[in-house]
Amino acid sequence: MKNTVVTLAEMKARGEKISQLTCYDYTTARLMDQCGINTILVGDSLGMTMQGYADTIPVTMEEMIVYGRSVCRACENAFVVLDMPFMSYQVSVEQAVANAGRLMKECGANAVKLEGGKEVCDQIRAITASGIPVCAHIGLTPQSHNCLGGFKVQGKGEAEARRLLENAAAVEAAGAFMVVLECVPPKLAALVTQKTSMITIGIGAGNGCDGQVLVWQDMMGMGDWKPKFARTFGQVGQAFQDACRAYDQEVKAGTFPSPQESFVKSDCSDEFLTQLYGGNPGGNR
Ligand code: KIV
Repeated sequence: MKNTVVTLAEMKARGEKISQLTCYDYTTARLMDQCGINTILVGDSLGMTMQGYADTIPVTMEEMIVYGRSVCRACENAFVVLDMPFMSYQVSVEQAVANAGRLMKECGANAVKLEGGKEVCDQIRAITASGIPVCAHIGLTPQSHNCLGGFKVQGKGEAEARRLLENAAAVEAAGAFMVVLECVPPKLAALVTQKTSMITIGIGAGNGCDGQVLVWQDMMGMGDWKPKFARTFGQVGQAFQDACRAYDQEVKAGTFPSPQESFVKSDCSDEFLTQLYGGNPGGNR
Protein backbone atom coordinates (compact mmCIF):
# COMPACT_ATOMS: atom_id res chain seq x y z
CA MET A 1 0.00 0.00 0.00
CA LYS A 2 1.30 3.45 -0.91
CA ASN A 3 2.45 5.46 2.09
CA THR A 4 1.00 8.98 2.02
CA VAL A 5 1.01 12.08 4.21
CA VAL A 6 -2.17 10.65 5.79
CA THR A 7 -0.90 7.11 6.47
CA LEU A 8 2.38 8.49 7.85
CA ALA A 9 0.49 10.89 10.16
CA GLU A 10 -1.64 7.94 11.30
CA MET A 11 1.54 6.00 12.11
CA LYS A 12 2.73 8.91 14.27
CA ALA A 13 -0.66 9.04 16.02
CA ARG A 14 -0.48 5.29 16.75
CA GLY A 15 3.10 5.61 17.99
CA GLU A 16 4.36 3.34 15.17
CA LYS A 17 7.91 4.10 14.10
CA ILE A 18 8.56 5.20 10.52
CA SER A 19 11.54 3.93 8.50
CA GLN A 20 13.28 6.12 5.95
CA LEU A 21 16.43 5.49 3.92
CA THR A 22 18.18 7.60 1.35
CA CYS A 23 18.31 6.23 -2.15
CA TYR A 24 19.46 7.52 -5.51
CA ASP A 25 18.75 4.88 -8.17
CA TYR A 26 16.02 2.59 -9.54
CA THR A 27 17.48 -0.84 -8.69
CA THR A 28 18.24 -0.02 -5.07
CA ALA A 29 14.92 1.79 -4.59
CA ARG A 30 13.01 -1.26 -5.87
CA LEU A 31 14.75 -3.48 -3.33
CA MET A 32 13.96 -1.03 -0.52
CA ASP A 33 10.37 -0.57 -1.65
CA GLN A 34 9.83 -4.34 -1.62
CA CYS A 35 10.94 -4.64 2.02
CA GLY A 36 8.49 -2.21 3.58
CA ILE A 37 10.65 0.87 4.03
CA ASN A 38 7.99 3.56 4.57
CA THR A 39 9.73 6.48 2.95
CA ILE A 40 12.71 7.10 0.72
CA LEU A 41 14.68 10.31 0.66
CA VAL A 42 16.53 11.22 -2.50
CA GLY A 43 18.95 13.30 -0.47
CA ASP A 44 21.43 15.78 -1.86
CA SER A 45 23.90 13.56 0.03
CA LEU A 46 24.14 12.04 -3.46
CA GLY A 47 26.76 14.73 -4.03
CA MET A 48 29.02 12.66 -1.79
CA THR A 49 27.73 9.10 -2.15
CA MET A 50 27.16 9.07 -5.91
CA GLN A 51 29.37 11.85 -7.22
CA GLY A 52 32.36 11.91 -4.87
CA TYR A 53 32.13 15.57 -3.85
CA ALA A 54 33.23 16.64 -0.35
CA ASP A 55 29.81 18.14 0.45
CA THR A 56 26.33 18.76 -0.97
CA ILE A 57 26.96 22.30 -2.23
CA PRO A 58 27.70 21.46 -5.93
CA VAL A 59 24.52 19.40 -6.47
CA THR A 60 22.22 20.93 -9.11
CA MET A 61 18.49 20.77 -9.83
CA GLU A 62 19.18 18.88 -13.07
CA GLU A 63 21.10 16.21 -11.14
CA MET A 64 18.38 15.90 -8.49
CA ILE A 65 15.88 15.38 -11.29
CA VAL A 66 17.87 12.56 -12.91
CA TYR A 67 18.38 10.66 -9.65
CA GLY A 68 14.93 11.53 -8.27
CA ARG A 69 13.10 10.29 -11.34
CA SER A 70 14.80 6.90 -11.20
CA VAL A 71 13.83 6.41 -7.56
CA CYS A 72 10.22 7.58 -8.03
CA ARG A 73 9.74 5.10 -10.90
CA ALA A 74 10.70 2.25 -8.56
CA CYS A 75 8.50 3.06 -5.57
CA GLU A 76 5.06 1.48 -5.47
CA ASN A 77 4.75 1.74 -1.69
CA ALA A 78 7.38 4.05 -0.28
CA PHE A 79 6.63 7.78 0.04
CA VAL A 80 9.38 9.59 -1.88
CA VAL A 81 10.83 12.87 -0.63
CA LEU A 82 13.21 14.79 -2.90
CA ASP A 83 15.80 17.21 -1.56
CA MET A 84 15.90 20.74 -2.91
CA PRO A 85 19.59 21.36 -3.64
CA PHE A 86 21.65 24.33 -2.43
CA MET A 87 20.49 27.63 -3.98
CA SER A 88 17.35 26.15 -5.52
CA TYR A 89 15.12 27.77 -2.85
CA GLN A 90 17.21 30.39 -1.03
CA VAL A 91 17.22 33.07 -3.75
CA SER A 92 13.50 33.83 -3.85
CA VAL A 93 10.14 32.41 -2.90
CA GLU A 94 9.13 32.32 -6.59
CA GLN A 95 12.20 30.29 -7.51
CA ALA A 96 11.58 27.94 -4.59
CA VAL A 97 8.02 27.24 -5.74
CA ALA A 98 9.10 26.79 -9.37
CA ASN A 99 11.88 24.36 -8.42
CA ALA A 100 9.68 22.40 -6.00
CA GLY A 101 7.16 22.15 -8.84
CA ARG A 102 9.82 20.77 -11.19
CA LEU A 103 10.74 18.03 -8.70
CA MET A 104 7.08 17.04 -8.45
CA LYS A 105 6.24 17.25 -12.18
CA GLU A 106 9.45 15.91 -13.69
CA CYS A 107 10.15 13.17 -11.13
CA GLY A 108 6.81 12.22 -9.63
CA ALA A 109 7.94 12.98 -6.06
CA ASN A 110 5.51 12.87 -3.13
CA ALA A 111 7.14 15.75 -1.21
CA VAL A 112 10.18 18.03 -1.21
CA LYS A 113 12.67 18.73 1.57
CA LEU A 114 14.55 21.93 2.26
CA GLU A 115 16.97 22.94 4.98
CA GLY A 116 16.50 25.72 7.52
CA GLY A 117 14.16 27.15 10.13
CA LYS A 118 12.59 30.61 10.38
CA GLU A 119 14.60 31.92 7.43
CA VAL A 120 12.87 29.55 4.96
CA CYS A 121 9.32 29.80 6.32
CA ASP A 122 8.13 32.03 3.45
CA GLN A 123 9.29 29.35 1.03
CA ILE A 124 7.63 26.55 3.03
CA ARG A 125 4.36 28.53 3.17
CA ALA A 126 4.35 29.20 -0.58
CA ILE A 127 5.33 25.65 -1.58
CA THR A 128 2.68 24.04 0.62
CA ALA A 129 0.10 26.58 -0.64
CA SER A 130 0.93 25.28 -4.15
CA GLY A 131 -0.13 21.79 -3.11
CA ILE A 132 3.30 20.33 -2.43
CA PRO A 133 4.01 18.66 0.94
CA VAL A 134 7.18 20.00 2.56
CA CYS A 135 9.62 18.23 4.84
CA ALA A 136 11.75 20.72 6.79
CA HIS A 137 15.27 19.96 8.01
CA ILE A 138 16.72 21.56 11.16
CA GLY A 139 19.63 20.96 13.53
CA LEU A 140 22.71 20.23 11.47
CA THR A 141 21.87 21.55 8.02
CA PRO A 142 24.73 20.31 5.81
CA GLN A 143 24.17 22.89 3.05
CA SER A 144 25.15 25.55 5.66
CA HIS A 145 28.23 23.78 7.00
CA ASN A 146 30.36 26.76 5.99
CA CYS A 147 28.32 28.96 8.36
CA LEU A 148 28.14 26.32 11.10
CA GLY A 149 31.91 25.82 11.11
CA GLY A 150 31.66 22.15 10.11
CA PHE A 151 29.40 19.12 10.47
CA LYS A 152 28.76 19.48 14.20
CA VAL A 153 26.07 18.48 16.70
CA GLN A 154 23.56 21.34 17.07
CA GLY A 155 21.36 22.42 19.98
CA LYS A 156 23.77 21.45 22.79
CA GLY A 157 23.66 24.70 24.79
CA GLU A 158 20.57 26.43 26.20
CA ALA A 159 20.42 29.19 23.60
CA GLU A 160 20.86 26.70 20.76
CA ALA A 161 18.23 24.37 22.23
CA ARG A 162 15.77 27.28 22.46
CA ARG A 163 16.54 28.23 18.84
CA LEU A 164 15.92 24.67 17.67
CA LEU A 165 12.51 24.58 19.41
CA GLU A 166 11.63 27.97 17.90
CA ASN A 167 12.64 26.78 14.44
CA ALA A 168 10.58 23.61 14.83
CA ALA A 169 7.53 25.68 15.82
CA ALA A 170 8.13 28.08 12.93
CA VAL A 171 8.39 25.43 10.18
CA GLU A 172 5.33 23.69 11.61
CA ALA A 173 3.34 26.95 11.54
CA ALA A 174 4.51 27.52 7.96
CA GLY A 175 2.97 24.18 6.95
CA ALA A 176 5.73 21.54 7.00
CA PHE A 177 4.25 18.06 7.56
CA MET A 178 7.56 16.38 8.36
CA VAL A 179 10.88 17.52 9.77
CA VAL A 180 14.32 15.95 9.74
CA LEU A 181 16.21 16.51 13.00
CA GLU A 182 19.89 16.00 12.26
CA CYS A 183 22.59 15.68 14.91
CA VAL A 184 20.74 17.09 17.90
CA PRO A 185 20.78 15.76 21.47
CA PRO A 186 18.26 12.91 21.90
CA LYS A 187 16.28 14.62 24.70
CA LEU A 188 15.78 17.73 22.59
CA ALA A 189 14.67 15.65 19.58
CA ALA A 190 12.22 13.74 21.79
CA LEU A 191 10.85 17.02 23.14
CA VAL A 192 10.28 18.37 19.61
CA THR A 193 8.58 15.06 18.72
CA GLN A 194 6.19 15.34 21.69
CA LYS A 195 5.36 18.98 21.05
CA THR A 196 4.82 18.95 17.29
CA SER A 197 2.17 17.56 14.97
CA MET A 198 4.90 17.18 12.30
CA ILE A 199 6.40 13.73 11.77
CA THR A 200 9.94 13.91 13.13
CA ILE A 201 12.63 11.90 11.37
CA GLY A 202 15.89 11.64 13.27
CA ILE A 203 19.43 11.13 12.09
CA GLY A 204 21.96 11.23 14.90
CA ALA A 205 19.10 12.42 17.14
CA GLY A 206 18.36 9.38 19.35
CA ASN A 207 15.38 7.02 19.27
CA GLY A 208 12.76 9.47 20.54
CA CYS A 209 11.78 10.66 17.04
CA ASP A 210 8.78 9.35 15.08
CA GLY A 211 11.12 7.77 12.56
CA GLN A 212 14.73 7.36 11.52
CA VAL A 213 16.67 8.00 8.35
CA LEU A 214 20.12 6.78 7.37
CA VAL A 215 22.21 7.23 4.25
CA TRP A 216 21.98 3.72 2.81
CA GLN A 217 25.67 3.32 2.08
CA ASP A 218 26.38 4.12 5.75
CA MET A 219 24.17 1.24 6.99
CA MET A 220 25.36 -1.33 4.45
CA GLY A 221 29.09 -1.19 5.12
CA MET A 222 29.81 0.38 1.74
CA GLY A 223 32.52 2.88 2.70
CA ASP A 224 35.80 3.10 4.58
CA TRP A 225 34.14 5.29 7.22
CA LYS A 226 30.73 5.57 8.87
CA PRO A 227 29.33 8.28 11.11
CA LYS A 228 29.02 7.57 14.87
CA PHE A 229 25.20 7.52 14.67
CA ALA A 230 25.00 4.93 11.86
CA ARG A 231 24.84 1.16 12.45
CA THR A 232 26.10 -1.43 9.96
CA PHE A 233 23.02 -3.55 9.23
CA GLY A 234 24.62 -5.48 6.37
CA GLN A 235 28.11 -6.10 4.98
CA VAL A 236 27.09 -5.29 1.41
CA GLY A 237 30.41 -3.66 0.59
CA GLN A 238 32.25 -6.88 1.53
CA ALA A 239 29.76 -9.11 -0.34
CA PHE A 240 30.04 -6.85 -3.40
CA GLN A 241 33.83 -7.00 -3.44
CA ASP A 242 33.82 -10.78 -2.89
CA ALA A 243 31.59 -11.13 -5.95
CA CYS A 244 33.77 -8.79 -8.03
CA ARG A 245 36.89 -10.77 -7.09
CA ALA A 246 35.21 -14.11 -7.89
CA TYR A 247 34.09 -12.76 -11.29
CA ASP A 248 37.55 -11.39 -12.03
CA GLN A 249 39.15 -14.77 -11.23
CA GLU A 250 36.67 -16.81 -13.30
CA VAL A 251 36.95 -14.51 -16.31
CA LYS A 252 40.74 -14.71 -16.15
CA ALA A 253 40.68 -18.50 -15.68
CA GLY A 254 38.34 -18.88 -18.68
CA THR A 255 35.73 -20.66 -16.53
CA PHE A 256 33.12 -17.99 -17.05
CA PRO A 257 30.89 -18.31 -19.01
CA SER A 258 30.21 -22.07 -18.93
CA PRO A 259 28.29 -23.82 -21.75
CA GLN A 260 25.10 -23.44 -19.63
CA GLU A 261 25.65 -19.70 -19.52
CA SER A 262 26.04 -19.46 -23.31
CA PHE A 263 23.40 -19.26 -26.01
CA VAL A 264 22.31 -22.22 -28.21
CA LYS A 265 24.99 -24.00 -30.18
CA SER A 266 25.76 -22.72 -33.66
CA ASP A 267 23.96 -24.49 -36.51
CA CYS A 268 27.13 -24.16 -38.58
CA SER A 269 29.54 -27.04 -38.81
CA ASP A 270 32.98 -26.76 -37.18
CA GLU A 271 34.49 -27.03 -40.67
CA PHE A 272 32.48 -24.05 -41.87
CA LEU A 273 33.39 -21.93 -38.84
CA THR A 274 37.04 -22.89 -39.07
CA GLN A 275 37.03 -21.85 -42.72
CA LEU A 276 35.11 -18.63 -41.89
CA TYR A 277 37.48 -17.56 -39.11
CA GLY A 278 40.56 -18.78 -40.89
CA GLY A 279 41.41 -20.89 -37.85
CA ASN A 280 39.84 -22.84 -34.97
CA PRO A 281 37.57 -20.40 -33.07
CA GLY A 282 37.66 -22.56 -29.89
CA GLY A 283 35.29 -21.70 -27.04
CA ASN A 284 32.20 -23.60 -25.89
CA ARG A 285 30.11 -23.31 -29.09
O1 KIV B 1 20.81 14.55 1.96
C1 KIV B 1 20.52 13.68 2.81
O2 KIV B 1 20.76 12.49 2.64
C2 KIV B 1 19.87 14.13 4.03
C3 KIV B 1 19.76 13.14 5.15
C4 KIV B 1 21.08 12.88 5.74
C5 KIV B 1 18.75 13.54 6.13
O3 KIV B 1 19.48 15.24 4.12
